[in-house]
Amino acid sequence: MKLEGKVALVTGTSPNIMGGIAEGLAEEGADLVCVDINPEYAEQCAKSVVSGGRRAIAIACDVTDEAQVTAAVEQAKEAFGGVDILINGATVFNWKGVLDMPLDEWRRQTDVMLTGAFLFTKLAAKQMIDLGRKGSMINIISTAGHQGEPGNIGYGTSKGGLLNFTRSVAMELAKYRIRVNSLTPTATDRTEGLERAKRWGVEWPGPRLGQRSGGWLADPSTGSPLQKLPSPSHYAKAAAFLASDEAEMITGVDLRVDAGAIAKYWIWDPGAESAQG
Ligand SMILES: NC(=O)c1ccc[n+]([C@@H]2O[C@H](COP(=O)([O-])OP(=O)(O)OC[C@H]3O[C@@H](n4cnc5c(N)ncnc54)[C@H](O)[C@@H]3O)[C@@H](O)[C@H]2O)c1
Repeated sequence: MKLEGKVALVTGTSPNIMGGIAEGLAEEGADLVCVDINPEYAEQCAKSVVSGGRRAIAIACDVTDEAQVTAAVEQAKEAFGGVDILINGATVFNWKGVLDMPLDEWRRQTDVMLTGAFLFTKLAAKQMIDLGRKGSMINIISTAGHQGEPGNIGYGTSKGGLLNFTRSVAMELAKYRIRVNSLTPTATDRTEGLERAKRWGVEWPGPRLGQRSGGWLADPSTGSPLQKLPSPSHYAKAAAFLASDEAEMITGVDLRVDAGAIAKYWIWDPGAESAQG
């Protein structure tokens, strides 16, 4: 197991991607601190980890609130002695473009993704330095942080910001041997998220892509070079690798788990090619 003896704090533990990553890290031996503004998501994620044989605590916390984040990092230390792995994944989706986005919604969305990652990074890093832990941090991006997506201004801006936040923090924390990387998911197969929500006994709103209007592929997997969408368990394997000592010389990189989406030449349609045979 790659993460035996390590403690991972994961934010945004809904039954979709971050819940899948939390369970995946636990399968590799990590104990978990599950953090979400929705107490049910934090609690059910922790319960699932415990039922799989690892230790876990749930913390209801708004990632934008410095006092709550300070308390969460302290609680992790009280429960498990400190944090080795931080994964910043808490997110607000809000499909509005620059012409339609109200200022208060822009502030809230960018605050959750950027300020949330900033606060947890700052406080977890201080704890790692104080405790002499050579930790690992991972910020969850999106292919929408690499490319221009219409009608998603707060999201694409925050995710693009997190890419360079990752590189800046990686440089600053290198002298403490704390590694900081990012992981880029993309449009995600919803089967696992729906199954996990059922297993946890929680409501999860489910499909994201259906909430957009006009101009999108009816079946997004046809636009992907691998002709398939990734699932949370694919991201979990990549996160476990980045967090583990196997990645000890990797810092400041973005690991894309996107079925080839970002590497694709824009006028090539992989779906049309596979339809021809
Ligand atoms: N779903 C996708 O297709 C997709 C694609 C690319 C990247 N991502 C990224 O993967 C990560 C997880 O996505 P998901 O689909 O599982 O999202 P999700 O909406 O299911 O989960 C996001 C979680 O963040 C929590 N949250 C929101 N505001 C918070 C706050 N202020 N404090 C603490 N928690 C808060 C929510 O309660 C929720 O549980 C996100 O970073 C997202 O941007 C998702």
